[in-house]
Amino acid sequence: PPRFAVFGHPIKHSLSPEIHAAFGRQTGRELVYAAIDAPPARFAGIAREFFAGGGRGANVTLPDKRLAFELAEVRTAAAERAGVANVLTALADGRLEADNTDGAGLVRDLAERHRVDLRGHDALLLGAGGAAHGVAGALLDAGVRSLTIVNRTAAAADALADRLGDPARVHTRYWEDLGSIGSFDLIVNGTSAGVLGEALELPFSIAANRALCYDLAYGAAAAGFLAWARAAAARYAFDGLGMLVETAADAFERWHGVRPDTEPVYQMLRARTA
Ligand code: ATR
Repeated sequence: PPRFAVFGHPIKHSLSPEIHAAFGRQTGRELVYAAIDAPPARFAGIAREFFAGGGRGANVTLPDKRLAFELAEVRTAAAERAGVANVLTALADGRLEADNTDGAGLVRDLAERHRVDLRGHDALLLGAGGAAHGVAGALLDAGVRSLTIVNRTAAAADALADRLGDPARVHTRYWEDLGSIGSFDLIVNGTSAGVLGEALELPFSIAANRALCYDLAYGAAAAGFLAWARAAAARYAFDGLGMLVETAADAFERWHGVRPDTEPVYQMLRARTA
C-alpha cells in the first residue's frame, strides 16, 4: 500500500495516524501511515529519505512547518501566502509540493461544524509563529473586518502583517498593550504557550460581549486558554480538534482523490479528548 507519514517533534501523541487510518477504512483506501520524529536539525534529511524511499505524502506539524515550506520545489498559493506548510506531496515528476491547509481547515471547522460566520468580525490573532502564519490569510478570506496581530516578539507580528499585504485590515500591536487595545469578536490563540506548558496572561477586556475564542491546539495544550475564555464569558470556546480533522481531510483528498466524511472521525476523537 502507498506510504504516508506525519513529521514533527515531539510526534508521539499525534492523532494524524489514527485519523488517516479511519479515513482509509471509511473510503476503502489501503494505506500505511507512520508518525516520524523529526527534530528540526534533521528534518530535511528525514523528509528527503522518506520521499526517496517511495513515500507519497506527509503531514507536517510543529516545529517543522517552515522547514517543510523551504524544502519543497513547488508551493501552492496557500503555502506561498503562509510561508509555512503542513502538507508535502510527491508529484508525479518527482518534485515535492508544499501546501498549507491550516487556514481552510480552521474556517471550515467554524463555518460548517460550528455554524459561525466570520464576516464583519474584528479578529485578534495571538502569536505570529508557524501556526498563526498558517491561518491568518484564511481569516481575511473569510471576511473579517479587521485582523489585529499581537505577538510577544513584535518583529514577528510585523513580518506576518507585511506578508499578508492588506494594510487596510491588518494591524499589529504590542503584547504589553493588550490591556488597552479594546475588545474583539474573535480571538484566535496561535501561540505555543499551552503546548509548552506556559501560562498566557490575558486581560478579560480583549473579549467582546459574546466573543468567539478558538485555540489552534487541542487537548491539554488548549485547556488554559479555553478556561480563560469561559471566565471571560465568551460565547464560544473551541479547541482546534475540528481544524485538525478538517486539515487531515484536505490532505487525504489530495493524496487519495476522495473526500472523507470528517464528522464521525471528529466525534470519535471528541469523545476521548473533551
Ligand atoms: P508554532 O508552529 O506552534 O506556531 P512557533 O513558530 O515556535 O510555533 O511559534 C510560537 C508562537 O507562540 C510565537 O508567536 C511565540 O512568540 P515569540 O515569537 O515571541 O516567541 C508564541 N509564544 C510561545 N510561548 C509564549 C508565551 N509564553 N507567551 C506568549 N507567546 C508565546
